[in-house]
Amino acid sequence: MPRHSDFARFHALLSAKPRILLVCGAGLSASSGLPTFRGAGGLWREYSAVDLATPEAFEQDPGLVWLFYAYRRHMSMKANPNRGHHALAALAQKYDNVFCVSQNVDGLLEKADYPLEKLRKIHGCLYGLKCFNEDCDWRASNSTDDPLWPILAPASADVDSTNPIPLLDPAHPAPKISWDEIPKCPKCGAEEEYGLQRPDIVWFGEPMDDHVVRDVEEWIDGGVDIVLSIGTSEVVNTAASFLYHARSNGAIYVNVNLDAALPHHLGNLDQDDFAFAGDAMELLPKLFEPIIGDV
Ligand code: OAD
Ligand code: ZN
Repeated sequence: MPRHSDFARFHALLSAKPRILLVCGAGLSASSGLPTFRGAGGLWREYSAVDLATPEAFEQDPGLVWLFYAYRRHMSMKANPNRGHHALAALAQKYDNVFCVSQNVDGLLEKADYPLEKLRKIHGCLYGLKCFNEDCDWRASNSTDDPLWPILAPASADVDSTNPIPLLDPAHPAPKISWDEIPKCPKCGAEEEYGLQRPDIVWFGEPMDDHVVRDVEEWIDGGVDIVLSIGTSEVVNTAASFLYHARSNGAIYVNVNLDAALPHHLGNLDQDDFAFAGDAMELLPKLFEPIIGDV
């Protein structure tokens, strides 16, 4: 077995009670049935998921962007945490020296009872709403209604392989939802043209919440012995910068990713680093088994 994928060598590190930073991405939730952003599953209708996650896309067609998020919200509401989420939740419940920064907006770590004080969600949450007017600070947790609003019902139809919904089929035109049909912000929507309710998600080109970033940076500055990159392509800058920050402060890097054995990932390892290639759902319970037992 190559040194970089040796479970026993990883387990030996755990006995020294290291400080562990977890950096999670969409691959963690892939085995819960939720699509990732890049690679296979990164297309929604004829659009790249990445192209819809922008303020420009919302300004151009808020109804389309809402349908995309309503579909992701519906899927996330129906999804269950997988053994990977449960392993991380058990780790954080049983072990003090761990902190997690997640790019995921699906709420699955929370559903697995991951302790919230050890979790920072840098890209927001599908279950939150805010105002599209940048000068307005209105925010709300949205209801658990599914669909969220009647106009979003096409995104909440149940899908399976025998029953594809028209919304997902680019051959059917997407339902057209006009700007006027999107619910207005209760604070400024009566006067402001841009006062529309939008998902409380950090889109491309938008700043992260300063407090959230500061909490993560402070935790890293307190020392990180091991940093795990879990199911993320590491292409989005903030997550990549946390990984870089922890590694340049001396942390051992552990890549847990379907693609971890590909040459460009292996080439990114230092001498003592690890790469575990496979499904995060299978790997995480094994990696933390000495602390969490069987999950
Ligand atoms: P990506 O879709 O970019 O990458 C997902 C990664 O997970 C890829 O490297 C896959 O190889 C890996 N993967 C897929 N299935 C896996 C599995 N079962 N087990 C382990 N690994 C698996 O997702 P992120 O890196 O999370 O931002 O993307 C970062 C951000 O880009 C997202 O948070 C989103 C997007 O724009 C916002 O929405 C703001
Ligand atoms: Zn507003």
